[in-house]
Amino acid sequence: MEKYVINGGKKLSGEVAISGAKNAAVAIIPATILADSPCVIENVPNISDVSMIIRILYEMGASIRPINKSTIEIDTRRIHTPIVPYEMAKHMRASYYLLGSLLGRFHTAKVSMPGGCDFGVRPIDQHLKGFKALGADYSIEHGMIDVHADSLIGSQVYFDVVSVGATINVMLAAVKAQGLTIIENAAKEPHIVDLANFLNSMGADIMGAGTDVIKIRGVEHLNGISYSIIPDQIEAGTYMAAAVATRGDVLIKNIIPKHLEAISAKLEKIGAQIEEFDDSLRVSVPGELVKTSVKTMPHPGFPTDMQPQITAVLTLAKGTSIVTEGVWDNRFRYVDELRRMGADISVDGKVAVVEGREKLTGAPVKATDLRAGAALVIAALAAEGTTEIEDIYHIERGYEEIVNKLRGLGADIKKITIPGGVVRKAL
Ligand code: EPZ
Repeated sequence: MEKYVINGGKKLSGEVAISGAKNAAVAIIPATILADSPCVIENVPNISDVSMIIRILYEMGASIRPINKSTIEIDTRRIHTPIVPYEMAKHMRASYYLLGSLLGRFHTAKVSMPGGCDFGVRPIDQHLKGFKALGADYSIEHGMIDVHADSLIGSQVYFDVVSVGATINVMLAAVKAQGLTIIENAAKEPHIVDLANFLNSMGADIMGAGTDVIKIRGVEHLNGISYSIIPDQIEAGTYMAAAVATRGDVLIKNIIPKHLEAISAKLEKIGAQIEEFDDSLRVSVPGELVKTSVKTMPHPGFPTDMQPQITAVLTLAKGTSIVTEGVWDNRFRYVDELRRMGADISVDGKVAVVEGREKLTGAPVKATDLRAGAALVIAALAAEGTTEIEDIYHIERGYEEIVNKLRGLGADIKKITIPGGVVRKAL
């Protein structure tokens, strides 16, 4: 079993470079299935969710050639099956993007029901509604989703709820369909725009990505290209939050400031000073941290994937803060772990009330999902004393080289391996 051991109380300072966006990479890599020739993808983050999706393509017959640490060439021409093995797909939610890309290419796909973070129901009814609108039929048996279409015809799709996954999956299924597809109430996240840019560079005809109406005119062929993935807005936000929680002074490099507007605005309300440059920003804390209210919303609102991290900051902000989760049903499971560190948080459904405290204290805690784990790292960096974080595999799904990046900012963090399972002990 592996753990992070963090001795907190040190101000983070220095520079950190942000990696490629996880949620763009896990969409763009499956999208290479639609290409008639090899693609070279740059700025690929070295995280387990991405290595998993690459492994799945490889097992399905794609050839993968690493070019350097963050660049791979993917040739999917020899993919021989539209069936994704349950054993592999069950570990990650983003495997459902293989449905859209395999359907788009083969007019058939069989993928296991999605896995991923455990914070409430994670339905796919809107994905299936979109596939049906394009002329596909589907069935769900033995944990597998089976979709098939004799032909894919462009259509109008209105999403009952804003869904990143459903927007991406319908784009993937529609880019080679016959005729015009119009997606209404589409998600507008940066990774949606990144995927649309990638597909358009390959020869697709997609307009309106980043707005709530996306128009896709089907094309015959998509050619392989070289493409660089956008920087990860949530990784950047996580390091911004860590800088604020430790009252540090950090330069966050390789970012797109526009993608961070909602995060920067909220951290400034809490007391951060943020200086923006072309592809970097500097976060420092001149005074004290003060309470605020946050409601997570689809982009351009405050991102739900930053909710646990901002809550960790607010446990140290003077006054009473209110955090409302506007996207997921139950994304406060990590609060129990923060309480073990002295946080004063009460949760009622989708609302958490946070009473700021002078300090947190180190404790043994467990990551319950990817961003919850990030929140525990932030709390541990700010806390007095030592924190041990278990189940760090959640964190390593989405944060490349997090230990080295934090050590580069002066954090006292190390990753240790415990043989077998050791009973959790009070520190
Ligand atoms: C993506 O998940 C992200 N994952 C999530 O990030 C992120 O929290 C979420 O978008 C919202 O931004 C990836 O991109 C791999 P949704 P996704 O479909 O696509 C409901 C992380 O930390 N819904 O936008 O699964 C759903 O229940 C992860 O990187 C339906 O009702 O999220 C939720 O309440 C965690 N029916 C809301 O919509 C559907 O068919 C938003 O879900 C689909 C979704």
